[in-house]
Parts: sequence; structure tokens; C-alpha cells
Amino acid sequence: MTDGAEPAGRGHLWHGRFDVGPAEELMAFTESRSFDVRLLVDDVACSKAHVRGLARAGLLTEEELGALLGGLDAVEMEFRAGELRFEPADEDVHTAIERRVTELVGAVGGKLHTGRSRNDQVATAFRHHLLGAVDDVSDRVLDLVEVLAARADEAGTGDGAAYLPGYTHLQQAQPVLLAHHLMAHAWALLRDVDRLADCRVRLDVSPLGAGALAGSSLPLEPAATAADAGFTAVFENSLDATSDRDFAAETLFCLTMVAVHLSRMGEEVVLWSTEEFGFARLDDAFATGSSMLPQKKNPDIAELARGKAGRVIGDLAGLLATLKGLPLAYNRDLQEDKEPVLDALDAVRLGLGAMTGMYRTLGFRTERMAAAADSPYGAATDLAEWLVARGMPFREAHAVVGALVRRSLDDGEDLAALVAAEPSLGPDAAALVAPGASVRRRTTPGGAGPGPVAAQRVQLAARIGSARARRGDRA
Ligand code: ARG
Repeated sequence: MTDGAEPAGRGHLWHGRFDVGPAEELMAFTESRSFDVRLLVDDVACSKAHVRGLARAGLLTEEELGALLGGLDAVEMEFRAGELRFEPADEDVHTAIERRVTELVGAVGGKLHTGRSRNDQVATAFRHHLLGAVDDVSDRVLDLVEVLAARADEAGTGDGAAYLPGYTHLQQAQPVLLAHHLMAHAWALLRDVDRLADCRVRLDVSPLGAGALAGSSLPLEPAATAADAGFTAVFENSLDATSDRDFAAETLFCLTMVAVHLSRMGEEVVLWSTEEFGFARLDDAFATGSSMLPQKKNPDIAELARGKAGRVIGDLAGLLATLKGLPLAYNRDLQEDKEPVLDALDAVRLGLGAMTGMYRTLGFRTERMAAAADSPYGAATDLAEWLVARGMPFREAHAVVGALVRRSLDDGEDLAALVAAEPSLGPDAAALVAPGASVRRRTTPGGAGPGPVAAQRVQLAARIGSARARRGDRA
């Protein structure tokens, strides 16, 4: 016996071939139970489908089947009650479940793993878990989309609708309705919901029955077991089924895209809530104070939405790096698939909840937005387009208006007065520079003015409805 090793005993899955049990250092380094315990309920559900398949194949009597199903249910109940105790030899959640079922139901517990390897088992449980997680994240994203839509309704498209400067290069460009701005985020998030639904199709495939890598000599029917476990499809190739982690990487990419969208929204709230912008006021319940500076109100949710995106991007990069060099089929490296995805799930789920609350309660300072948007230079493109409508080539119109803007900036002259005095423009054109005039001229489909924004809101409602209905079909 080497130092730190225990005698081989019944505590270890592979004791038959080994003289001594695993070293403590080996267990400490290689165990996954500390994190894959989050798959316990999924593993029990898939294991129940597996044993029913064993019974259909004539490998279990009705009595043995009943004992195993009862044992699996009991383990899940102990777990939910916080009473399931783990042993040092429980290398992963699968080992722990088998060990505990065997303690509860006796020797028949030894039949649980018939025709199955942890290689197909872990891929099955992980996919099962992610199906539920993807649905949960989709629901939460839709909650945020609905809050944005409701805030867009408040901001309005009619008389007195709120508007603010639209930016490119973070320089004021043209005014846009606040409703338009808020819905821009909603559309991005709806694409995330679509992406998750698409990813879900490829998640919804059972690897169970692929065994360690090559299938089994026993008369198992993987398709029937897949359906019993709630999967829509079954694997086609046992090597692929046990070693593919595209499903994990793709789910993680979808989560990363949500995190990046939340980060961009967060960055905006950070800016808007500064004294300098002053476009938004955080609700007390969704802001933090400073431990030292009594006057401070900090946008910590928005900052952490931004900050956690960095970590989630790291999760995705790390998982892809783990996968890139692996030969077929299962390699223990694959155990590294779970932590990054679960970490990203936690960050995105909590982030969505916090950002939804923050957006629901955010105060918009529409008078500040309007004052910023009413800078006369925001109407420069309208002036050029006014000339174009009267036959002037756009490039020439651009130069005429550009020269007036420069004079106004250099000499501090009022742009409206310069426009009125300019022969090719005149007093009619000067009206375009009036507060609130420019945004009303954005009339093209998908544009930022009242007409197209009202139409867009109808489209958004339809898309939210179809996304909710698609989720309802799965519920
Ligand atoms: N805990 C492992 C994982 O998460 C599954 C165990 C497979 N181990 C093995 N030696 N075949 O991937």
C-alpha cells in the first residue's frame, strides 16, 4: 500500500481490478461531486428511465424494478430535504446516487449501472439539466423584454413623447424617441430567446445507451429510454454521443450573448445615472450607497452586469479550449464542461432578475433628455434632407449645412438665425431646428420617429406573444 492510499474496498466503483484504493490527493483533484451535485435531480430522472428500459429488456424483474425506482425516489427526497450525506469515496453525483441506492435497497442496487457507463450517463444528465435551465433563462429574458416594452409605452409615441439624443461614437447624432431606444434592447434580447430555442433543439437528444463509447451487448432500446426520459431525439453514434460537448458550448455561447447584452445595457445605465448625463435616476431599492461618501448613490447592478460579462466570456473561452484537442471519445477533461456553464447560468439568471428590477423602477429624466436632444445641431441632417427634397445633390447640401454649423460653432451665432438668412434655406427650413421637430421627421420604417415606433411596438408585441406561446407549448 502506498502512502495516503486505502485498501481496495467495496467503497470504490472499480475495486475489482485494483490492489489499493485511490489516494486522497487523487480524489481531491479529480472529484466532481462538489459541483455536479447540481445535476442530482436530473440524474435521478434519467436513471429511472434507464431502469425501466432494463426491465423492458428483461434484465430486471418487476420487483427489482420497483426496488430501484423506490431507491432512486428516496435518494431524491433525501437530497431535497438536505439529508443526503456524501462519502469521501463519492467521486461524482452518479457514484453517490448508486452508493446510496444500494445502501437503501440492498444488493439489487448493483443492477442500476447495467448497460450504462458514467460517460453516457453524465452527458444525459447534463443535457437534461440544461433543457430546464434554457427554459428558465428564456422566461427571465422575456420578463425583461416585457418590462422594456412597458417602459416604452410609458415613454410614448404621441404628443409629449419622450425623446433623447441618439449617439454614434458616443457623440450626439440625431434625436430618437425614448421608446425606440428602449425597444432596441428588447429586440436584441428577443434574438437571445430565439437563439436559446434553436440551441434547445440540439440539446434535446439523449446519449443514454451509448455506454462507455460503443454501446452494449444487452438488448437495450435507447430510443424508448430517450422518450421515457423526456428527450425528443436519441443519439446516432455512440462515440459522438459520449464525447460531444457542442451542446454545452452552444448553450454557453447563448448565455454569453445574453450577458453581453446585459453588459451593454448596464454600461448605458452607468452613463445615464451620472451627474453629467443625468438621464436616469436609480430607484433606492436598486442602487447602493457608499460606505464613506454620504452623498453617493451607485449603479452596482449595472456595473456588475458589465463586470460579470467578462467572467462569462472567460467561461466560454475556457470550455472551447478544453474541447479543442480531445481525441474520440470520452476523456476525463470533459468533466471540466460543467463548472463554466453552471457559473454562466448563475451569473445570467441573477443578472436578469436584478436588471429587470432596475429597469422596472428606473426614473427617466425626460426633461434632461429633451434638453440634450434639442441642441440645434441634431437637426443638421434634416436641413440637408430639406435641401435634397428641393433638388440639391446630397453632397452639396451636406456642405451648405456643414458650413452653417461651423459658423454657428465658431462665432456663437444661433443656427436657426443662420438658416433663416441662408438663401437656399430660409425661414421655413429654420422651423426644423425648433425643439422636438427633428425626431418627428424620422418617418421611414424601423426609424426613430412616432409613426414607425408605434408600428414597431405592435411588431414587438407580436414577437413577445409568439415567444411566450412557444414556451407555453413546452411547459
Ligand atoms: N464525473 C465525470 C464527468 O463529469 C463522469 C465520470 C466519468 N469518469 C470516467 N472515469 N469514465 O465527466
